[in-house]
Amino acid sequence: MFTRPRGTRDFLPEEMKKRRKVENIIRKVFESYGYEEIMTPTFEHIELITAKSGEEIRRSIYNFRDKGNRELALRPELTAPVMRVYANELQFKPKPIRLYYIANCFRYERPQAGRFREFWQAGVELIGSSSPMAVAEIIALADDVLKKLGLKDYEINIGHIGILRKILSEVDEKKQNLILHYVDKGELGVVEDMLKNEKVDKELFFKVLKMEGDRDILDEINNGLLKDYVKDFSRTLDILDIFGVKYKINLGIARGLEYYSGVVFEIYAKRLGAQKQICGGGVYSLAHVFGAKPTPTCGFAFGFDRLILALEKENLLSDDKKPRFLLIPMVLKKEVFDVARIVRKYFACEMEVMERKLKKALEYANTRRITHVLILGEDELKRKEVAVKDMEKNVQINIKIDELEEYLKKLK
Ligand code: HAM
Repeated sequence: MFTRPRGTRDFLPEEMKKRRKVENIIRKVFESYGYEEIMTPTFEHIELITAKSGEEIRRSIYNFRDKGNRELALRPELTAPVMRVYANELQFKPKPIRLYYIANCFRYERPQAGRFREFWQAGVELIGSSSPMAVAEIIALADDVLKKLGLKDYEINIGHIGILRKILSEVDEKKQNLILHYVDKGELGVVEDMLKNEKVDKELFFKVLKMEGDRDILDEINNGLLKDYVKDFSRTLDILDIFGVKYKINLGIARGLEYYSGVVFEIYAKRLGAQKQICGGGVYSLAHVFGAKPTPTCGFAFGFDRLILALEKENLLSDDKKPRFLLIPMVLKKEVFDVARIVRKYFACEMEVMERKLKKALEYANTRRITHVLILGEDELKRKEVAVKDMEKNVQINIKIDELEEYLKKLK
């Protein structure tokens, strides 16, 4: 027996149906805000992935050498690849540019519930603005997706990396990144050690990291050093309040990636436990890293697999009960295929191909959750009819082939 590589999954048809249903809703909501789909390669040059990605990503990179001795990596996320496309091809297009993607990503992490080595992200990038309006738009969009999916138990947490970096401004950038990495991991002891000999207002830094609550808590830091940041932050929150988006301020959010520079947010579905983060994003600067003019940008990505888990916890992914047909031909005549063609305009229609007796075919239909069986024999064809057996009600009727469409329309 061959087994799957660790951290990967097979998705059987029942699971795929649920995933596609969720994907279609996400796609629809993204597109309703004007975002257009983009796709980038599954692997990239390793430098693209390591530039500004952060310690966490660098440690978990899936890299390999190809036959031409190039060092490549499977994408761990899509923000950097999308910004490469922007720098290469979209730089001079009118702004803003709104892009979205739903694609697989790879991180070599320790697999556990909600943490995989191959997982999917559904995300957006808004290129050309990081104004309060733009940031509020992407947060409201993430909220809208969750509402349309029907999820109840989630919490939007909003922070500001600009505020954290401002307090750390005397520390060199590399060390700042490492400090934020440990903040993200919750290892505040390490952060304390790293700040020991730095000219940083440590009291303020740790106080800010612990600030959580409604927006009034920002009053505490609305002075001196941080005043401008609080002002910018408040404008975003004003707009979210107008939109009616519920959120919590959480200034301890440091994000796992290095490219963030302003407002950041994470969405938690608490019922998922340790891997409760179903979405992350914020304002970032990457355009200049890939050779474009500095360009304001913001975006987010849902962890698609975690979203599925969260929806399942709330029983929101019930099986869909669409009619499903099995056609059992007792004779092979053109009319048989005409009937199949008519049914397929409305519903899935399988053809019996095992050359079984009627009884066996019906047994199969029962195990396959077929809702309707169509039987076509010489007698039916002579009368230009088809026998329709409703498997749930266990009743059989004959219908004129001419009237089959009317019957199907009523089932829709
Ligand atoms: P991220 O927070 O690293 O951000 O990933 C986004 C989401 O992907 C996470 O919130 C989580 O739900 C999911 N995720 C991450 N790793 C795994 C894993 N191993 N297994 C399952 N799910 C996982 C980004 O990747 C940014 N590119 C988001 C962004 C877009 N920022 C701006 N634009």
